[in-house]
Amino acid sequence: MDQRDPDENGWASSAGNWIEGVGDAGDFSRQFVLDAPMIARVRQAAASTALDIGCGEGRFCRRMRDLGVTTTGLDPVSAMIDAAKMQDPHGQYLHGFAEDLPCHDAHFDLVVSYLSLIDIDGTDRAVPEMARVLKPGGRILVANLSSFATSSSMIGRRHCKDTDEILRPLGRYLEARKAWFEWDGLRVQNWHRPLSHYMQLFLQQGLILTLFDEPKPQGGPPERVNNYADMPYLMMMEWQKPSV
Ligand SMILES: C[S@@+](CC[C@H](N)C(=O)[O-])C[C@H]1O[C@@H](n2cnc3c(N)ncnc32)[C@H](O)[C@@H]1O
Repeated sequence: MDQRDPDENGWASSAGNWIEGVGDAGDFSRQFVLDAPMIARVRQAAASTALDIGCGEGRFCRRMRDLGVTTTGLDPVSAMIDAAKMQDPHGQYLHGFAEDLPCHDAHFDLVVSYLSLIDIDGTDRAVPEMARVLKPGGRILVANLSSFATSSSMIGRRHCKDTDEILRPLGRYLEARKAWFEWDGLRVQNWHRPLSHYMQLFLQQGLILTLFDEPKPQGGPPERVNNYADMPYLMMMEWQKPSV
């Protein structure tokens, strides 16, 4: 077991508020943007086994379980794992970091990272680990904040006097960096990385891109939906490990 501090990016201190706030339906991004296309890809993958990396309190593990997939959830924060086990007593939940997966080689049909790559410090170790535990022919399914959104959120909104619009400027896009963010009683660090950072890590593993999408909201409060007029907030990608 990795001796790292599970609170290094704030998730252990924030776990209580996260578990209380996210609810079984999920927040706006999950409920109205990501769940439907993520579930569609899980169905299409026809996986028997899945690993959900950075599973939090296990919401998406339970969705996959309901689709008949034998799912293992992994998270470094004990309070998240405890909450996941409480809501899914027969499920498998592991305490660990994405950078050092406590799993056998070529074990899973599907590896999922649902809004966790932005939280993972060592993506250069985590992506090879995801590929290692995947069976040949298996898929890695990723939902992440878009790199436009993470670049923009580190700068903050600007009011344009000429047009009376709220603009979301980008800045230092090519520079990977992390910053603290606070909302709804959470205080966590998130990474901004250019999209090329993620693409290159998956390409280096010899994986094949089988999906790339910037999904739009399907319903939800209009003020949240309107944000998507300016930039994609979320992105999805799916990578396949070649069959040998
Ligand atoms: C935004 S939450 C997402 C939880 C869940 N995937 C969901 O969508 O509800 C990010 C999760 O990533 C976990 N995390 C942070 N660093 C990690 C790491 N190095 N390896 C694995 N998980 C990590 C956090 O503990 C947290 O539970």
